[in-house]
Order: sequence, then C-alpha cells, then structure tokens
Amino acid sequence: MQNFTFQNPTKLIFGKGQLEALKEEVPQYGTKVLLVYGGGSIKKSGLYDRVLSILKELEIEVCELSGVEPNPRLATVKKGIQLALENGVDLVLAVGGGSVIDCAKAIAAGVKYDGDVWDIATGEVSAVKALPIGTVLTIAATGSEMNNYAVITNWETNEKLGWGSPAVYPRFSILDPVYTFTVPREQTIYGMVDIMSHVFEQYFHHGTNTPLQDRFCESLLKNVMETAPKLINDLENYEYRETILYTGTIALNNSLGMGIQGEWSAHNIEHAVSAVYDIPHGGGLAILFPNWMKHVLDENVGRFKQFAVRVFDIDPEGKSDRDVALEGIDALRQFWNSIGAPARLGDYGIGEEKLELMDDKAMVKGEFGHLKKLNKEDVLAIYRASL
Ligand code: NZQ
Ligand code: ZN
Repeated sequence: MQNFTFQNPTKLIFGKGQLEALKEEVPQYGTKVLLVYGGGSIKKSGLYDRVLSILKELEIEVCELSGVEPNPRLATVKKGIQLALENGVDLVLAVGGGSVIDCAKAIAAGVKYDGDVWDIATGEVSAVKALPIGTVLTIAATGSEMNNYAVITNWETNEKLGWGSPAVYPRFSILDPVYTFTVPREQTIYGMVDIMSHVFEQYFHHGTNTPLQDRFCESLLKNVMETAPKLINDLENYEYRETILYTGTIALNNSLGMGIQGEWSAHNIEHAVSAVYDIPHGGGLAILFPNWMKHVLDENVGRFKQFAVRVFDIDPEGKSDRDVALEGIDALRQFWNSIGAPARLGDYGIGEEKLELMDDKAMVKGEFGHLKKLNKEDVLAIYRASL
C-alpha cells in the first residue's frame, strides 16, 4: 500500500424524500443561487418545479443556466460564469447528471479565477478557490456528486479534459433514487458501465498488499453485475435504482483509491473519442476498456487472473494465468454485450477517418498510464482494435 491522506468533505444526503433537505442546506450559503441544469429531463420529471418551489419558499433569488450538454462544453461554462458574476450568486446548485455537476464545478472555480477557465482544465493553473456547490443528482454514473473532479469539452479544439481540485467537492449532494426512475434504458446501461469502469481504474495497478481495496472493488463489480440485468427490465424499481445509485457514488468518491495509484488510461482514451465524436462516455468505455485490458495484460497478469477468478468465477484449473486472464476479459465483454452496451466504435459510425486525430487528442498532456505507460502507437493500437 502507498501512504495516503483521505478527506472527503461532501455531505451525502441519500434516500426517498431527501429533496426536502434543500431547505436546511441552501440557506447556509446565502440568498442567491445559480441553478444549473441540462436539456429538460428535470422539467419532464417534475423535479425542476419541486426545486423551484422550495427555493421560492426560502425566498432565494434564482438565476438559471439551462441546456448544459452531455459532455459539457466550455462555451456553456463561460456563460454560467458570466451569469454567476452578474448576479453575485452565493451558491451554484446543479440539478442533473455528471455533465451538469461538472459544468457547475467549472463555473464555481471559474468565478474565482481571473483568467480563462480553460487554463484550469488544461492544468496550467490549479483551482484554489471556488463558489460553494450543491447538487441534486438524477443519474447514477460519474460519482461527480461526491468527488473533486470535472470533465469539460472544448468543442473548438476537440479537447475533452479532466481536472480536479479540493475546492470543487460539492458541499452537499442530494440523491433520491426516485429521481433516477426516468433515466432511459440506454443511459442507465451507460451509467453502469461507467461505474464498473471507475472500479477498474482503481483495481488494475502494480501495488501490493491491497487485500481490502481488492475486495471492496470486487464487491462493487459483483453488485453492479447482479443488479444490472434486473434493472434494465424494471427501470422504476426503487431497490435496484437505490443499489446502483449508491454504488456509483462509492465507485468514485476517492475511497476505493486509498493506498493505490489510480490508472485512468482508458478514461483518457475515451475522452478523446467523445471530444471528436461527442459520444456518450459510458458507451465509449464499453467499447474501449476490454481492449485497453488486453493491451496491458502482460504488465500484471496476476491481477487480471485474480479479476477473472474472483469477479467472473473463471475456473483456473489446468490453464495458464494468461489464458485465465483473457477469459475474464472476454467474460466482461460478454456481460456488457448481454445488457446491451456497444462493443465497437462502428456502433457509433466511427471508422478509420479520424483515428489519428483522436490519437493526437488523447496525447495532449503527453504519455500517460501506470500499469503501462502508453505512447501514441499504443493508443492507436487500442483504437484500431476497437473499430
Ligand atoms: O440533459 P438532460 O435533459 O438532463 O438529460 C440527460 C442527458 O441527456 C439524461 N438524464 C440525466 N438524468 C436523467 C436523464 N434523463 C431522464 N431522467 C433523468 N433522471 O441523461 C443524459 C446524460 O446525462 P449526463 O449528465 O451527460 O450523464 P453522466 O452522468 O453519465 O455524465 C457524463 C459526463 O461526466 C463525465 C463524462 O466524461 C461526461 O462528460 N465524467 C465525469 C467524471 C467526474 N466528474 O468525476 C468522471 C467520469 O469518468 C466522467 O468522465
Ligand atoms: Zn467515467
């Protein structure tokens, strides 16, 4: 295990009816709120009306940024910063999915930075301060509700970059599984792929003596795998939604990462695809992750074997470690196929045309990876295997 420090300040408020907690939380930060939301799902579900009526009851002054895109864009973040500054807001309240929350984080940090907010995404400057952020989550996927990361897309340069700062942990996040009932089947699947992928990014490492971390990861994976087939056929089942929502938060609130070096290569490779083709993050991961696994397998066959045996119950008897590991990766692909996740870039109409461009975009911050350092050729090979 590596030495570590862990501190997660987000107050997590989970369960049916918990939206009422807004009444206690919001006034702690002031009287002016920037309400950030996406393309309209919260209006259809009635959540928007409910939030506004609570804010009205509290006599909170509200200004709104609507239309945050999936894969939120820099231009929208800038619009939000302007609104927040013009209205002197005290709190940024994100109501939606990871995209809405990430946009809110970038706005909150951007308000406190005099330069171009893109400098924060590129890592040129760190976000040292931010406005307080609160969230009401509507989809299980990213973990953004309880972490300090955000991913923003600069559509003009086709760059999608993740960044993090302790300043952007949400102060509070409200998670009511009922508000995830309306997430469409396809998006529900993407969310579950993303959750599993977050676990993988913290499971495949070179660390030693991480037995508890391993068991945590394996149990999260098993949990998603047991629930996913039931949930996709019963989208309004409270218990299944509750299980996945909670798992999504734990998968990326930095608790699994204690004492290990996180990987995040497949995420980087996926973000470059989304930056060029604007595909859903979880869909891209379903396509790319097994191919990243095969590409780096020989760096730590033992870990991949352990994954195969413990998560997919592959029988190792009479087989080489490598064969067991490969069976595990194939079983993952089959599982994702079985719940309806995409398997090839071609499923999104992506062919050879822009592979080089995606490769360049994946490399904007230079070579990356811990299990194996990936260069331009490695990434291109993974894209080619995914066509
Ligand atoms: O925009 P609306 O109308 O709200 O619709 C959204 C959107 O179309 C819809 N949706 C969300 N909740 C719904 C709903 N539809 C019906 N009922 C509901 N209750 O779902 C669509 C996707 O929403 P989005 O917020 O984009 O999904 P997700 O939470 O998967 O977020 C994806 C973004 O987060 C980034 C991804 O790269 C991507 O940009 N990530 C952020 C991370 C983080 N901050 O820690 C880590 C992740 O690895 C990821 O990279
Ligand atoms: Zn992800």
